[in-house]
Amino acid sequence: MLSEQSAATVRATLPAVGGAIDVITERFYDRLFAARPELLRDLFNRGNQAAGTQRQALAGSIAAFAAYLVEHPDERPDAMLARIAHKHASLGVAPGQYETVREHLFAAIAEVLGDAVTPGVAAAWDEVYWLMANALIAIEARLYAERGIAAGAAAWREWEVVERVEETPDVATFRLRPADGAPAPAFRPGQYVSVQVRLPDGARQIRQYSLSGAPGAG
Ligand code: HEM
Repeated sequence: MLSEQSAATVRATLPAVGGAIDVITERFYDRLFAARPELLRDLFNRGNQAAGTQRQALAGSIAAFAAYLVEHPDERPDAMLARIAHKHASLGVAPGQYETVREHLFAAIAEVLGDAVTPGVAAAWDEVYWLMANALIAIEARLYAERGIAAGAAAWREWEVVERVEETPDVATFRLRPADGAPAPAFRPGQYVSVQVRLPDGARQIRQYSLSGAPGAG
């Protein structure tokens, strides 16, 4: 729950933060990828970054979370948190990376909003950030534990494409088989999986795909 003092500050500054979210997002990613180029190369979707799509998702969801907290101080937007945490767990996002994101996000906010970011304003938004980050870290920890892997590790396996079916001009089904011959894992309805590929320039890019059928033998 957000402290009363922070709630008042966040409520008063939400319009300024929300109104500048585009510029804050731009400055945040510029700073993040300048300091940590490997995150753009190996973790974030370079296509989304180049197209500008998805860029607002991170900062925008923190502003949405803040707006939710000031309206419903005793509740949590669980559906939004679960969706983000599943995406993060599918990518192997690690708890320690939240400090990196915080550092560059807050530097971007200070750069864009300037003197409006007094120590009190910074402290209130820090509280919002960590309420959200800690909620995500906890859900992600449960997801990693369910798969029996260390927090921030991804359960990568090698698979072979054995068939490609063109379902429509822009939808294809790929039939896959574990390269090591071991059984395919069970799946849950609605589950998606991450596929990572090493590109010719050395980047590792990850994309998520829906499972369209239950795994059979092999
Ligand atoms: C409180 C902190 C964070 C918030 C609020 C947040 C929020 C989000 C949101 C809303 C999405 C889009 C989810 C979707 O597609 O449904 C997302 C995706 C993603 N997040 Fe986070 N995130 C946070 C921290 C982090 C950290 C620490 C990392 C790792 C450095 C990270 C890496 C990513 C990546 C790689 C994606 C996918 C982006 C893409 O493929 O274009 N996030 N995050």
